[in-house]
Amino acid sequence: MTKLLPKKAQQKALPKAPRQVPKHADISHFASQNNELVIGDKTISQIEKLVGSTPYYAYDKALIANTVASLKSVLPEKIQLHYAIKANPYPSLVHFMVNHVSGFDVASKKEMLLALQSGMPAKEISFAGPGKTHDDLQAAIIAGITLHAESTTEINRAIALGVSLAIKPNIAIRVNPAFELKASGMKMSGGSKPFGIDEELLPELLKELPYDKINFKGFHIFAGSQNLKADAIIEMHEKTFMLAQQLVALTPVKIAYINIGGGLGIPYFPGEQRLTLDEISANLSKLLKQYQHTLADINIIMELGRYLVGEAGVYVSKIVDKKVSRATTYLICDGGLHHHLSNSGNFGQVIRKNYPVAIGNKLVSTVDRKELENELVNIVGPLCTPLDIVADKVNLPKSDIGDYVVVYQSGAYGASASPKDFLSQPQLNEILL
Ligand SMILES: Cc1ncc(COP(=O)(O)O)c(C=O)c1O
Repeated sequence: MTKLLPKKAQQKALPKAPRQVPKHADISHFASQNNELVIGDKTISQIEKLVGSTPYYAYDKALIANTVASLKSVLPEKIQLHYAIKANPYPSLVHFMVNHVSGFDVASKKEMLLALQSGMPAKEISFAGPGKTHDDLQAAIIAGITLHAESTTEINRAIALGVSLAIKPNIAIRVNPAFELKASGMKMSGGSKPFGIDEELLPELLKELPYDKINFKGFHIFAGSQNLKADAIIEMHEKTFMLAQQLVALTPVKIAYINIGGGLGIPYFPGEQRLTLDEISANLSKLLKQYQHTLADINIIMELGRYLVGEAGVYVSKIVDKKVSRATTYLICDGGLHHHLSNSGNFGQVIRKNYPVAIGNKLVSTVDRKELENELVNIVGPLCTPLDIVADKVNLPKSDIGDYVVVYQSGAYGASASPKDFLSQPQLNEILL
């Protein structure tokens, strides 16, 4: 009879399973030329000469157009796509989006003016966000866009302003639903939140609204952002449609739309996979059918930022120094945290993980890779703070001063979400190609 080994020894005796190192999702949606990354039809060194210097963000028009078109091709026809400008307010990109989506969501007066100047009709622009000031509300009413009211104070202010301006304000209510978007990078609903009006307060409020003084447009139910789990999104849609039906039943006037929010995420970190939309879309078709009587003549809007533009942008900086400190090799770039806060891990991440990065002028194919020596490096920016990380312990083709470091998945929450003046570094360039 074989003697049982003590537990510790048994564990030692077991052959070790190979450690699965999670990989980044495939980011080969960009072309390359002579091992150099191409955005639009320009190599990154050509783009440097075009914009004047590194660091820069480059956004690829064709990729944005493809993303929007393929999303539209799977979503039910009734769903209208709105672009949330906060994801990337680069003016040329916003102007480009006009021809690809049905409307814009803005989060400030400045974004509203940009949206209006892009040619998007005012009636397709909505303004969400807590803390809208008297000036914000006044400008929105004069412009004729729709306010997504986040509180009763905001509604009362808008009504009073409407009376004094002799313009009926367009108002929809941003709802804080009781449910949340599970497994979400950013939860924006459920429980106590500064966003929207709690759903349980709405039966009373909807009874009391002075409908003769406003154009009541509908409801905005935005539960969360950056979600890569189809099941969680499907569950959110089920709950959103059920809530929408209840709210429509409580509203004494005909409404124009229900904004069902967004939440579709993109893969940033090792181990994350792209969302597959088939089940989400099939479920939306089912819900549209199930609620067709309630929702007849009511537009259904999906509001997305990063899903539409995030994968189409890269952040490019140049290696200005390379050094070894106690056996760790550092690549020091001319760009970092001050332009790409989220890549540095300081934009809401609990544990920092690397975005996909590459040496942008050494994009050797996997076949050729073995011919090129790799090295393990830490990539940092020029700021005098340990927070300025571009990529930590990455294995990349051996590079040197003058080579380019590219951060992928950088088309959303990049330039505009970063402290560009921190340490008074040189300004950043952006280009849409
Ligand atoms: C109201 C609202 N709409 C849209 C978005 C865009 O989210 P995402 O870029 O993840 O699609 C956000 C993000 O915070 C939001 O708060």
